[in-house]
Amino acid sequence: MHSLMTHTITLIPGDGIGPEITSAVKRVLLAAGVNITWEEIPAREEIEKQGLEFMKAGVVESIRKNRVALKGPMRTAIAGGAPSINVGLRQALDLYANLRPVKNLQGVQSRYQDVDLVLVRENTEDLYAGLEHTVVPGVVESLKIITEKASTRIARFAFEYASKYSRKKIHAIHKANIMKLSDGLFLSSIRKVAAEYADVEYKEMIIDNACMQMVLNPHQFDMLLLTNLYGDIMSDLAAGLVGGLGVVPSGNIGQEAALFESVHGTAPDIAGKGIANPTALLMSAIMMLNHIGEALAAKRIEDSLYKVYREGKTLTRDVGGTATTAQFADAVIRTLGH
Ligand code: NAI
Repeated sequence: MHSLMTHTITLIPGDGIGPEITSAVKRVLLAAGVNITWEEIPAREEIEKQGLEFMKAGVVESIRKNRVALKGPMRTAIAGGAPSINVGLRQALDLYANLRPVKNLQGVQSRYQDVDLVLVRENTEDLYAGLEHTVVPGVVESLKIITEKASTRIARFAFEYASKYSRKKIHAIHKANIMKLSDGLFLSSIRKVAAEYADVEYKEMIIDNACMQMVLNPHQFDMLLLTNLYGDIMSDLAAGLVGGLGVVPSGNIGQEAALFESVHGTAPDIAGKGIANPTALLMSAIMMLNHIGEALAAKRIEDSLYKVYREGKTLTRDVGGTATTAQFADAVIRTLGH
């Protein structure tokens, strides 16, 4: 079964386990008959060897042209070093919405079953923009920017998503009792948008309570709408409820382009060993296929992935199996035919 559409998509294999998991995902998409020409960005080391900076080597231009990208993880230095490429791409392409569906995968051990959440995180501003400077030695200022424009835009994205996918409830998560101006503006902007969507229940919850409530009873939530930093933290918390970062996908979506990536990092401890789990990247690719109008192929791959997990015979080590990355991909491909 081959798709009639052809797509050109930017592929950023990334660092560490990135090349291993992207090549597994490419094989699955090919086997599912999706017609994709990958515009592959060379490894960061190759680009840097030529004396170029990664961000200035045509990556942004390629994504802008193709409007869609699939990306493996990229390492970022902690405290100091070059700015994050992940954040840089989101800013350069104005990928303002970070979408993270969090669902149980049958066969993966987790604290809860039947979790089905969607987190929508504002992706361009807030403390996360990294606007910091040293005021005088020993004193650092870090700026939290919240605008009505970005808050309204992300609210519109969340409520439109709820309408399109029949989600029932959105919780806006905030700390407006303390950050009355910044989180206050986030909330007042959302309330105006919420008023236009009578079919979606709108609620608000303070971030610290929301964290506790998520751990106690995640089933009370449906969609969560958050500023950048709270969204970053709470989406990992949510991933922890269903078995961890290895089994949750993400999309960074803007007006002009969309970039899909797994939320785990480069896993330097297992890089190059051929044992990494490509599930999160494959699930991100499934989101990408839905985004580009390949819903049938997306569903086929998803069904096949779920079946491999249900059977539990060919799983990678992080989820309790012994299979290699390639053996796992082969099992998904074999199951596609059934
Ligand atoms: P990590 O997610 O790379 O690793 C944490 C643990 O999870 C490790 O034990 C690793 O082996 C395991 N793990 C992660 N992905 C796995 C997979 N697909 N299959 C099997 N096991 C997996 O987090 P860490 O160590 O904090 O970060 C390493 C690097 O990744 C850092 O440079 C960080 O900046 C970068 N990073 C990049 C991200 C991105 O590109 N979106 C996101 C998070 C981190």
